[in-house]
Amino acid sequence: MLINGNTQIYGIIGHPVSHSFSPAMHTAAFQFIKKNAVYLPFDIPDEKLKEVISSFSLLNVQGFNVTVPYKERIIPYLDIISPEAEKLQSVNTVINSCEGWKGYSTDGLGFVRSIKEKGAVFKGKKVLLLGAGGSAKAIALALAEEKVSVIHIKNRSTEKAYKLIELLRLLHPEQNFSGSPSLSIKYDFLINCTSVGMDGKSCPVEEEFIDISAFIIDIIYNPSKTPLLKLAETKRKPFLNGLSMLLYQGILAFEIWSKQEAPIEVMKKILDKM
Ligand code: ATR
Repeated sequence: MLINGNTQIYGIIGHPVSHSFSPAMHTAAFQFIKKNAVYLPFDIPDEKLKEVISSFSLLNVQGFNVTVPYKERIIPYLDIISPEAEKLQSVNTVINSCEGWKGYSTDGLGFVRSIKEKGAVFKGKKVLLLGAGGSAKAIALALAEEKVSVIHIKNRSTEKAYKLIELLRLLHPEQNFSGSPSLSIKYDFLINCTSVGMDGKSCPVEEEFIDISAFIIDIIYNPSKTPLLKLAETKRKPFLNGLSMLLYQGILAFEIWSKQEAPIEVMKKILDKM
């Protein structure tokens, strides 16, 4: 497919974004369905976020993904958000629609689908969740909807952890949510939703919590084996990085933009090559 005067622009905004596999994945998918479009990375400094939307309007950008650290901060600049994104106050997918800039969150469903695809079941399970940002909120809510029995949240800012717990308790009063992880519990899943580990050096949690967890998941996919996952491997625990979540949240985003079924195999093949 040749780029010409009618090529549409899609992209991802975040800071940093150079690690992202989304440009390769979405551009390959657009080419496969013969949509004349490209998907580009936009590294946006904090103080410029406000100007991004007006620049995108001017350039007639058709849609974009939002990643760390803007999933919550993008909301005031959008015209409308989906009920799911409203509930979470987190947006990872935006479309230039007839109603204006419309935001969605595909992280939670993308995460659940990616783990279910591996044969795991969430109902009745105990989860230790690291983080309380946009991704953590989306995943926590999706897990609550999957009827896990326990979610314990550990976050650098305890205030943000408690805010998320309040939201979960409000929406799912029958489940057990707490901001005090315990070493006397056997967790079925430990899920890292923080950005700690993207540098390939830091681990987001004390080793003791890895010891008491059965399955270790990191939503980071680059590096493919974060220090957390390396520790899990050393301890012979099953583990998974964020590549399959990237695929499934990407499929949902692609379908919002193109209004047709995403070419899953094409997108998967590209990610496997990266
Ligand atoms: P996203 O929208 O992708 O989830 P985010 O909302 O910026 O990104 O959330 C990032 C998460 O990583 C937060 O839980 C953040 O902790 P705080 O809520 O305390 O900010 C966590 N995080 C980022 N850098 C961290 C660090 N150096 N140490 C511990 N936690 C960190």
